[in-house]
Amino acid sequence: MAVKPPRPRKSDFQFPRVMLAPVAGVTDRATREIARSHGCPLTFSELISARGLREANGGTWRMLRECQGEHPLVVQIFGHEPESISEATRLVSDQGVEGINLNLGCPVKKVFKNKSGCGLTVFPTELVYVLRAMRKATECHLSVKIRAGVNHKSLNYKMIGDIAQGEGCDAVIFHARTRLMGFGGEAQWEWIQDLKEYLDIPVIGNGDVVDALSARRMFEQTGCDGVMIARGAYGNPWIFREILEYLDTGIIPPPPTLEERLSTLIRHLRLAVEWKGEQRGILEMRKQIGWYIKGYRNVRPLRDQINRLETLSGVIETLQEWAATNPEEEAAESGLARPSFPGR
Ligand SMILES: Cc1cc2nc3c(=O)[nH]c(=O)nc-3n(C[C@H](O)[C@H](O)[C@H](O)COP(=O)(O)O)c2cc1C
Repeated sequence: MAVKPPRPRKSDFQFPRVMLAPVAGVTDRATREIARSHGCPLTFSELISARGLREANGGTWRMLRECQGEHPLVVQIFGHEPESISEATRLVSDQGVEGINLNLGCPVKKVFKNKSGCGLTVFPTELVYVLRAMRKATECHLSVKIRAGVNHKSLNYKMIGDIAQGEGCDAVIFHARTRLMGFGGEAQWEWIQDLKEYLDIPVIGNGDVVDALSARRMFEQTGCDGVMIARGAYGNPWIFREILEYLDTGIIPPPPTLEERLSTLIRHLRLAVEWKGEQRGILEMRKQIGWYIKGYRNVRPLRDQINRLETLSGVIETLQEWAATNPEEEAAESGLARPSFPGR
């Protein structure tokens, strides 16, 4: 039997070994630019509603406009109606992005009940129509981001992976938790290994990669083609270089100094204000400031003080005054401030 020739593609784009995850309310344009300028080879937009684009929702369009001229970038969309998905795919594709990703993992009740995010995986036939519409609408790199299933009794990652591959997706990103697990408990990396062995297209592993060592362990334990990082990059754009250097040389570069952290944070603040205006930019950066300064002793009063400020200059001045006091790190040997995860 004749072998079907591979579908022609406009781009030969492939996922790199390390990438920044889509995180709603966090990985906005400013955060993505900071990650890229610190060596992150690929970033994803926050999830964008296909229906919102179709219905000309202002907030949704603002998110897409925020992505203009950004490279390399994958835009993530969600929805369940083939028509909206097809239109959104075409719109996003016309912006010249490197790739488009369909969110099949969002656990949020409202999204789930609307047969979107993880909810669409409960309806495989409808998922087939959605993916077919996407593939028809674009030649660019197409991927899905999935969870393992709704709960441990309904693991469906192989079936969903199979559908994605069969409908012409170029890669699967796998957050190895069920919907029921939310973002807690340990990500089950053996599921990633299982999916990687099962599919022919690249599988990107996601869940609990927080530093160079855990990244390497995920590669070794699962055989995955790349790792995606969400919470490990909070206030820590250095993580990408750290991982890539370690993978290439076996040496972990030293953590950033206080001066480096502060100058990156200030740049991040300025970018946030450029993109969102002073009031919204400062407000939305509050949590990120907390992540950058985490790991130093007695940062609570500093956070409280910053949370009362509304101007960029006020926040920068306060941070500089704090840095001038040579704040002590919580535990010198711990290096970068990192969120706590179950140990592996
Ligand atoms: C607050 C929050 C928002 C998130 N938003 C998105 C999103 O918009 N799209 C998506 O695919 N995943 C989203 N995720 C999931 C992450 O991309 C990632 O799959 C998950 O956090 C596991 O990775 P980690 O262990 O590196 O954090 C979100 C996670 C969190 C905690």
